[in-house]
Amino acid sequence: MKRKLIILTDPGQDQAAAILMILGRPDAFEVLGLVATAGNIHLEHTLDNCLKLMELAGRPDIPVFAGCRQPLMRPLVIADHVHGPTGLDGPDLPKPAIRAQEKHGVDFIVDTIRAHPDAVTICSLSPLTNLAMALRKAPDIAGGIVEVVAMLGAYFEVGNITPSAEFNCYVDPEAADIVLRAGIRTTLLPLDVTHKMLSTPARLDAMRALGNRCGIATAEMLEFSQTFDLGKYGWEGAPLHGPCVPAFMLAPQIFSGRQVNVSVELAGRLTLGMTVADWWQITDLPRNTFWVRDGDAAAYYALLLEALGNLP
Ligand code: BDR
Repeated sequence: MKRKLIILTDPGQDQAAAILMILGRPDAFEVLGLVATAGNIHLEHTLDNCLKLMELAGRPDIPVFAGCRQPLMRPLVIADHVHGPTGLDGPDLPKPAIRAQEKHGVDFIVDTIRAHPDAVTICSLSPLTNLAMALRKAPDIAGGIVEVVAMLGAYFEVGNITPSAEFNCYVDPEAADIVLRAGIRTTLLPLDVTHKMLSTPARLDAMRALGNRCGIATAEMLEFSQTFDLGKYGWEGAPLHGPCVPAFMLAPQIFSGRQVNVSVELAGRLTLGMTVADWWQITDLPRNTFWVRDGDAAAYYALLLEALGNLP
């Protein structure tokens, strides 16, 4: 059966790769809508970037909604040093002709979960601001969400925006805290696994060699955003975060992890936004998260290429 998805996203080149991967697998996913999130870049850009991606993929029929402009309680921190001034630098994608929906993204989440109880998975590629707002506005929806599968957090790999925090959690730690305490089945794809999924030159070449516009554009995007990471880590490729979320939904058997408690640091002077995973089960806190720690990078890229190859 196809998974019905709501995608929360702030594209972002790696989110673009994830979204295209999802759209390239219509046999597995039905996308009910995208909610543009403020994160990697401001909302004006993430909204525009979502619309551009729908046109690139030949899916102007998928509705795109604007979410919140700011995290719940903090000023927005962006990552234009990685993603460029538009958030999706690299290929020259045309200005979108399609428009965003009038409805607010938070209302879209609430209305959609209520309309399809026990049928919708939240695919989060960004800070969790809009889902947390939806849960605050309509706490009843928590019981109707099948699962949250999110790229967020880090434990063994520590931080990428501060020494202790991963970007998507750091931008809106209160939102992550609300979601992780909501009693919803949750899987997190943290840096612990995404740092193993390196976009080596050979993998990017294979993506470009698909020859279709989506494959070429994705390779160009990742070639842009990798510059910062290659300089930072000195690895043979940059970590490819976002597509870990659809890859986990498509092929959980290529990943491994544990059901553990994950709590978000909301007060630490040095550790704000840290995801503290009780990997060794030292506490009796509820095991609220499936924490993915490892994955098969070759199988991951094979899935990604297969999906991109199905697109225009
Ligand atoms: C996450 O932070 C963002 O900058 C990336 O796009 C990814 O979603 C990785 O920590």
